[in-house]
Amino acid sequence: MSKNFLKYYIITGLSLIICGAVIFYYSLPGFRKFSVQQDPAMWDVPDIDTVQSTSEAALLRYGRELIINTAKWLGPKGSVAHISNGMNCENCHLDAGTRLDGNCFAMVAGTYPKFRERSGRKESVEFRVNDCMERSLNGEKLDSLSKEMRAMVAYILWLGKDVPKGIKMKGMGIPDIPLLQRAASIGNGEKIFVARCTSCHAANGGGLFNADSSAYFYPPLWGEHSYNVSAGIYRLSRLAGYIKYNMPFMKEPAGPQLSDEEAWDVAAFINSQQRPEKMFASDWPKITSKPFDYPFGPFADSFPELQHKYGPFAAIKKHSVKTSH
Ligand code: HEC
Ligand code: HEC
Repeated sequence: MSKNFLKYYIITGLSLIICGAVIFYYSLPGFRKFSVQQDPAMWDVPDIDTVQSTSEAALLRYGRELIINTAKWLGPKGSVAHISNGMNCENCHLDAGTRLDGNCFAMVAGTYPKFRERSGRKESVEFRVNDCMERSLNGEKLDSLSKEMRAMVAYILWLGKDVPKGIKMKGMGIPDIPLLQRAASIGNGEKIFVARCTSCHAANGGGLFNADSSAYFYPPLWGEHSYNVSAGIYRLSRLAGYIKYNMPFMKEPAGPQLSDEEAWDVAAFINSQQRPEKMFASDWPKITSKPFDYPFGPFADSFPELQHKYGPFAAIKKHSVKTSH
C-alpha cells in the first residue's frame, strides 16, 4: 500500500469518527433544551415535580392548586373565602395554564407589568389576576398580600420563567380565528350547542355540579354562576377562538373539532343568553381603543351595539385604530 493511500484511509477514518461524535453529541438529551431555546415557537413547560421541596415549592404548589380547584378554596363553599362564582381558573386556562392554544400563562412573566387599554394603566400580575377574579369568576378581589394571591402569582411567574421576552410564541393566549363575512348566527349556534355541547354543559347551559355541589364538574356557560359581561371571554372573538381550539373538551389536546363558522355561531348563542351584568365605569378610558367586538358603547364609530356584539366585524375592524386583547 502506498503512503498516499494510507493517508487517505486515515483522513477518511478520522472524518467518520468526528462526524459520528458530533451526531452523538447533538442527540444527547441535554441538547434538547438548547435547541428548544433556539426555536421560539416552542414552549418547554416547566415540570412542577422537579421543584425541590422548599418553602418556595410549597407556595408554587398551592398556587397551582388554586388555579385548578379555585372553587374548593374561594368558591361559594370555599374553605378560605367565599368570593367567586364556583368556576375554576383552569376552566379557561387549561391544564393549569400550560396548554398551548388553551389560554396558557407562558407570556405573563415576560410581559407584565404591562400597559392595557381596558384599564388605561400599567397593570401588575396581581391586578390582572384580580381582573379575572372580578369578571371571569364574577367575584371579589384578593388582597395583593394574601397567601392565595402570592401563591397564584408565584406559580404563574414560575411557569413563564424561561420564556424569552418580547417574542410572540405559537399557541400563546387565545388564538384569533378568521372573521366571518356575515353576523354570527344565534339560531345556527343553538343547533350546534344542542348537538355538541349539552352532553357536558347541560341543556340549560348551567353545567354540572360535583356530588356535594362545592365545585363544577362541567362549568356553566351562562346563568348566575357564569362569567359576567365585563369578562374578556364575553367578547365574541375571544369566546369563538377559545371554543374553536378547545371544545368539545378533550383530556389531551386534539386540535380544532369545529369549523370557524361553527365556533363563531355557537359563541354567539352562548353570549346571547343571560349572565351577570356587572360593569366597571373605569373600563376603556379611551373609547378609540375599544376592540371591534367590545359590545358596549359609546363607540368611536357609528356601528350599532348589536354589530359590535355579533358582527359582521370586518367593516368595524377597518375603522378601529387597533385591537387590544
Ligand atoms: C371564564 C374564563 C376565565 C376564567 C375562569 C379565568 N380567566 Fe383569566 N383570562 C381569561 C381570558 C379570556 C383572558 C384574556 C385572553 C386573551 O385576551 O387572549 C384571561 C387572561 C388572564 C391573564 C393574563 C394572561 C396574559 O398573558 O396576559 C391572567 C394572569 C389570568 N387570566 C389569570 C386568571 C386567574 C388567576 C384566574 C382564576 C382566579 C382566571 N384567570 C380565570 C378568561 C378566564
Ligand atoms: C366532554 C365534555 C365537554 C363537551 C362536549 C364540551 N365541553 Fe366545554 N368544557 C368542558 C370542561 C371539562 C371544561 C373545563 C375545562 C377544565 O376545567 O379543564 C369546559 C369549558 C368550557 C368553556 C370555558 C368555561 C366556561 O364555562 O365558560 C366554554 C366557553 C366551553 N367549555 C364551551 C363549550 C362549547 C361551546 C361546547 C360545544 C361545542 C363544549 N364546551 C363542549 C367539557 C366539555
